[in-house]
Amino acid sequence: MAEFLTDIKEIRARARQEIDKGPITSAYGADLPRVIQVCNEALATELVCVLRYKRHYYTATGIYAEPVAAEFLEHAGEEQEHADRLAQRIVQLGGEPDFNPETLTLRSHAEYDDSLDLVEMIKEDLVAERVAIASYTEIVQWLGDRDVTTRRVFEDLLAQEEEHADDLKGLLERLPAALGN
Ligand SMILES: [Fe+2]
Ligand SMILES: [Fe+2]
Repeated sequence: MAEFLTDIKEIRARARQEIDKGPITSAYGADLPRVIQVCNEALATELVCVLRYKRHYYTATGIYAEPVAAEFLEHAGEEQEHADRLAQRIVQLGGEPDFNPETLTLRSHAEYDDSLDLVEMIKEDLVAERVAIASYTEIVQWLGDRDVTTRRVFEDLLAQEEEHADDLKGLLERLPAALGN
């Protein structure tokens, strides 16, 4: 293991170099352009998830729609918070958050869905959550200790995507078999 740098003079001198980089110091250990790109892919994923949950919220119908739609709306709000955290981190890293709607679905890991059937909606949302869970898990492992702050953002998102997936699984289990599920 590398020695901890205890030479405070050296740390102070380095901190004065490249101050235009803000929080990015010479101690930053990750591939910065790649980290920004990965954050932008996750941002696209979150934005597509917001749109898919909103679509599902407004089009959910049937006698069981109400509690399911309420869950869709809650998830949409949380995916929006995830998008905001990622955009904020991208800016901290000196990058530009990409909100371009033209390329959103191309850059997103998860897919949009406009099913009209309630069970189909829930299944598509569950698949999208599982895509996010798999990709965020990989990102957390890839970042390791080279960018702890970005890793923590992804860890927080990951925990909430797991909650979302669990909520959706619960909804599927509680819907009566009569729905053709
Ligand atoms: Fe999310
Ligand atoms: Fe989610």
